[in-house]
Amino acid sequence: MRRRAKITIVGAGFVGATTAHWCAVHELGDIVLVDVPATENMPRGKALDLMQSSPIAGFDANVIGSNDYEATRGSDVVVITAGIPRKPGMSRDDLLVTNARVVSAVAEQVKATSPEAVLIVVTNPLDVMTQRVWQISGFPPNRVVGQAGVLDTARYRTFLALELGVSVEDITALLMGGHGDTMVPLPNYTSVGGIPVTKLISPQRLAEIVQRTRDGGAEIVNLLKTGSAYYAPSAAVAQMVEAIVKDKKRLIPCSAYCDREYGVGGYYVGVPVVLGAGGVERVVELDLDAQERADFQNSVEAVKGLVNTMNQLTGAAPAS
Ligand code: LAC
Repeated sequence: MRRRAKITIVGAGFVGATTAHWCAVHELGDIVLVDVPATENMPRGKALDLMQSSPIAGFDANVIGSNDYEATRGSDVVVITAGIPRKPGMSRDDLLVTNARVVSAVAEQVKATSPEAVLIVVTNPLDVMTQRVWQISGFPPNRVVGQAGVLDTARYRTFLALELGVSVEDITALLMGGHGDTMVPLPNYTSVGGIPVTKLISPQRLAEIVQRTRDGGAEIVNLLKTGSAYYAPSAAVAQMVEAIVKDKKRLIPCSAYCDREYGVGGYYVGVPVVLGAGGVERVVELDLDAQERADFQNSVEAVKGLVNTMNQLTGAAPAS
């Protein structure tokens, strides 16, 4: 009989704890919530509280909290949310050096305790932190993936559903590039119940919705003042965890390692992928038009620039 998947979530803050919640409610596996020793018993408290909701919510999952990676040993999936979030006025890129150090330490621990896991990186600046986790872990690139596109397309789909007064479920959309100001929503690959969105919304209005999507994270930061979004980011992670533990082979946008793909040359960036038990099983290459290609290239250059800055400021472990 198949055992339950073991899912570790590193970082028991809002994103981590809410990810644990979604994963538990959807019965994706047993969950270990881990945080640094300075948090003392906090992960234990959150895990116990979550598990005590199970008789009411109706899920079976063991949820434990710990400050010790020993408890995470042998995980199938490890979600890395650890790091500081942005404050109003900060871009995701302002978090570079601090969070590079945080995720490097996490990647070392995960490498030692869960060498077979698929790693999902959530820490910002997203594509760059995913690159760093891959460098430090030495894992094959398909077993390290970043969460961004599922969140960004969820925002885009939400805004489109509100605009059209239709169910969010009927909107499918695609978005590429880095998880930052240069992300590239693709109206040509967006449809509403099978109808191209470009037939339903004017180009001007669509451009406004695309811009709101690009600014979607900052809009929440400015409202919250003390941190960044967590319900939608963690729901996005849970969808990726589900794709992996159930081997669903979802075709969704994720930050994935692209070398020859799209001519990126060895960087993590948002592209459509097939996500299954093996992690990123395939990068799907689209024939982009000239504008889309230029926008994607611009976004890739932004990510490359940040990776190079990170490597200079923190001393890169060479990609293995
Ligand atoms: C956002 C942050 C978490 O997009 O990147 O909300």
